[in-house]
Amino acid sequence: SSGGNDSRGALVVLEGLDRCGKTTQSSSLHKYLEGLGHPAELWRFPDRTTSVGQMISSYLSNQSQLDDCTIHLLFSANRWEKRSLMESKLKSGTTIIVDRYSYSGVAFSSAKGLDFDWCKAPENGLLAPDVVLYLDIPPEKAAERGGYGGERYEQLEFQMKVRQSYQALHDASWKIIDACQPVKDIEKQLQEIVFKSIETCRKGKSLTCLWS
Ligand code: TMP
Repeated sequence: SSGGNDSRGALVVLEGLDRCGKTTQSSSLHKYLEGLGHPAELWRFPDRTTSVGQMISSYLSNQSQLDDCTIHLLFSANRWEKRSLMESKLKSGTTIIVDRYSYSGVAFSSAKGLDFDWCKAPENGLLAPDVVLYLDIPPEKAAERGGYGGERYEQLEFQMKVRQSYQALHDASWKIIDACQPVKDIEKQLQEIVFKSIETCRKGKSLTCLWS
């Protein structure tokens, strides 16, 4: 489909622990859609290019300190500042592949001990993904993958808590994919799921908001 005025694109989110393979799979999905001639963009959160994003980036690399509530709200603001662009792109027929979204926001902050519902609240009203691809990996396996890069959250104990928080966020839009499979096998599964999701959107599935 060339995505006319009457058909919208799909909002596809990839989630998972650090080093689960999300970034590789996101860009591979993007290439796949381009190959099909389907209009698609690759996004990521945090979007470090905005001024809010630069504050987040500085926090993640331990160059600045912020309390847990403040950084949580900055991550959320970083999604809100892209919301209207996201909506107009989707409505004009572009599919958006997003590397991390509100689920990361809630999973990482609640893993620090912040109240789960408090963490969800600022995400309320952002666009709801049509499908969430969760790349599931045991935290020990993720840690083995070339080691962590040294950012703030890249520690085994913490990632174990994040995985538990993610488990409390599953809903009907989630597809759990075993991230320990060969890269090519994962690619195939994701392509199939995304292709179907795009079809459903094209046929008129409406765009909704979190947390629906
Ligand atoms: P990245 O490695 O995908 O750029 O993400 C940076 C880190 O930020 C990663 O450890 C996950 C974390 N994160 C949050 O804590 N809250 C959020 O809302 C997002 C999007 C990411």
